[in-house]
Amino acid sequence: MLVTRDADGEIHAVINACSHRGAQLTVTKRGNKPTFMCPYHGWVYDAAGTCVDVNDHASGNYPEYFNKLDHNLRKLGQVGVYRGFIFGSIVEDVEPLETWMGDSTVFIDMFVDQSPDGLEVLKGGVHYTTTSNWKLQLENPDGYHFFPVHTGYIALANRRDDAPKGTLKTIDVSQMQELPGAVYDLGHGHGTAWAWMPNGEERPLAKSREFPEEQFDKDRANWLIDCVRFQLMFPNLWL
Ligand code: FES
Repeated sequence: MLVTRDADGEIHAVINACSHRGAQLTVTKRGNKPTFMCPYHGWVYDAAGTCVDVNDHASGNYPEYFNKLDHNLRKLGQVGVYRGFIFGSIVEDVEPLETWMGDSTVFIDMFVDQSPDGLEVLKGGVHYTTTSNWKLQLENPDGYHFFPVHTGYIALANRRDDAPKGTLKTIDVSQMQELPGAVYDLGHGHGTAWAWMPNGEERPLAKSREFPEEQFDKDRANWLIDCVRFQLMFPNLWL
């Protein structure tokens, strides 16, 4: 899949395979370029996937009826954008994006609204290979596993808690089981796991509490600052 933003800011999503013989157009994960030249025979496509040049078109043995515009890149069936997140479907016959997201937008909004500066996508990433049904990897939005699985995190938080007062900030794990938390089924396979955090004033966002309190209201600011949330957009996005 190739996702681009053209000179007018419009988003396009096409299959990352040349219309000629199917060669992969690009192997880079991100970049900035106006066109894509196929590394195999040199056909060129613009950011919208339109075939703008066919190598040797004039001098080669292309028949008269050959029209390069009949060989644009294959577009995804549907592409939609919500709060900066781009969603796509290979097939065209799907329900509207807003319907598919449903109440998940409430939590995506919380994710985006945490800062007046918006979101920053950090470089780097972690890649996993699994031989199982890959969608099962996503089915993890429960608090049930937290204490048995995340022992390293808990040990680290406890160790930081032992540091001389005021030198290190950390979550008070001992209170976590006492505070409210839940998992919401948001339909379409989406879900949210949330938990109220103890000593939320120690969280990095706490120092910018004024922004959500002024922008929204105190309740929403509490949800933004004091609550940890994990949002699953089935089948392949965790926020
Ligand atoms: S496969 Fe891309 S130009 Fe031939």
